[in-house]
Amino acid sequence: MNVDALSADPLAVETDLLCYMVAEESAGVPGIGAEHALAPAVRQSLGDLRGRFAKIVSVANPGGSPSRILIAGLGPTSKITADIIRHTAGAISKRAQELGVARFAVVCPDVEGVNPGDAAGQITEGCSLALYDFDMYRSKKAEAEPDLTVVCGTDAADIVSKAVARARAVSEGVRFVRDIANMPPNECPPARLASMAEEMADEKRIKCTVLSGDRLADGGFGGIMAVGKGSANPPRLIVLEYGGGEGPPVALVGKAVTFDTGGISLKPGEKMDEMKFDKCGGCTVLGIMRAAAEMGLPLNIVGVIPSVENMPGGDSYRPGDIVKLYGGKTAEILNTDAEGRLILADALSYVEERFSPRCIIDFATLTGACIVALGCNVAGMVSDSDDMAASISLSADRTAEGVWRLPLDDDYMDMIKSKVADIKNLGTGRAAGTIAAAAFLKSAIKGTPWLHLDIAGTAWMQPASKKRPYNPPGATGFGVRLILDYLGRIAPGR
Ligand code: BES
Ligand code: MN
Ligand code: ZN
Repeated sequence: MNVDALSADPLAVETDLLCYMVAEESAGVPGIGAEHALAPAVRQSLGDLRGRFAKIVSVANPGGSPSRILIAGLGPTSKITADIIRHTAGAISKRAQELGVARFAVVCPDVEGVNPGDAAGQITEGCSLALYDFDMYRSKKAEAEPDLTVVCGTDAADIVSKAVARARAVSEGVRFVRDIANMPPNECPPARLASMAEEMADEKRIKCTVLSGDRLADGGFGGIMAVGKGSANPPRLIVLEYGGGEGPPVALVGKAVTFDTGGISLKPGEKMDEMKFDKCGGCTVLGIMRAAAEMGLPLNIVGVIPSVENMPGGDSYRPGDIVKLYGGKTAEILNTDAEGRLILADALSYVEERFSPRCIIDFATLTGACIVALGCNVAGMVSDSDDMAASISLSADRTAEGVWRLPLDDDYMDMIKSKVADIKNLGTGRAAGTIAAAAFLKSAIKGTPWLHLDIAGTAWMQPASKKRPYNPPGATGFGVRLILDYLGRIAPGR
């Protein structure tokens, strides 16, 4: 979707469809005063709509330009949130697409408490994310996406055009994550994921190094090597370096299991196809770095993505094996389906040793237990830094990408003690599965502030509530908006 910002009288904008958003309390829309020829029709439609949330009415403008106006309800002023604006904008964009227009314009709502810059960004995100449709492997391609113009008053021109440019970069990052994460496992083995990362890095002037073969085996990446052993598609470690500022980098680490069968501890067949989404954590890192580079964030960021396929076979690692992780700790394998923590442990130790980052954030579709605990609207968050956890929670409120912190104290660290090795890749029975997995990750880090997001529920599943209509079926791209908000707030001079 193309998008630009314009500060002008709404009715003077050259477009095929002019769209407004109104609250329950709104008595009119900007640019259509009482004397205007359209005023009676608009007043009648506003009466029908009564500002009801998620409802849209259409006003004909026969012989005029544009020939049609849409008015969408935001609900009562007191309940309008950033996500209600995204949601409503998304609904408008889908309607514009159905109407077959080439371009539509959305006017920033004139509602108390809604800042035009914020609203312009939310409108851009809502439209861009709602119009996404994964058609890479379909003969019937997605319908054309109409171009968006975000319209605001002249006093906010500068703020609004910056907000729209930023939101465009963020949304393109989310769409990039969805594009790769939705790819089927036969088309996206670790080597292909790595070459797509290289291509993206090249385009955005990010440095990209890919480790494979002997460089992984001799480099001490015992977790990645063990999990990858059973597959004909060998593992990769993707390392991205974005230099936008001064000082130690923020490190982003993402699990990219291109398909998770469970290995020798084979998963049941039901919904196993969904394990193509087990690469979503790694894809999230790619999307964040792409957007950070696109908007020129004044920070250094490194991304590390361990990528494997977890398959059963004659060469597979087994329950009972003991493997040596990067950094030297030994891990007893008790279930080959708990593979994510093994490849992440290697990546976390590596990024800490090699880059001395200021902090580490990791993303992983790590545990089914996280879905049991939190469902699919909220990600599990585990951190040894209260500051990071508080700041990410604030970003969660701002982006409506929800997180909920789970505890991790020394008692939980005891869950992963092994009798025959330093640690084991299972906790104790079904107890606190998400935290046991996080405990394994923490044991790979020496002291750098760290925050883990378990995105097993949020990476692709649709919540029953349909609360996020701007997330079409398939991968959601969860985490990109969340972390870019956080990075934007910790970057200097912002
Ligand atoms: N990728 C899965 C976790 C998962 C399962 C995410 C279903 C989303 C939906 C992970 O590798 C896994 O298999 N975890 C096991 C761990 C267990 C063996 C300790 C799980 O959650 O069952
Ligand atoms: Mn698994
Ligand atoms: Zn997995």
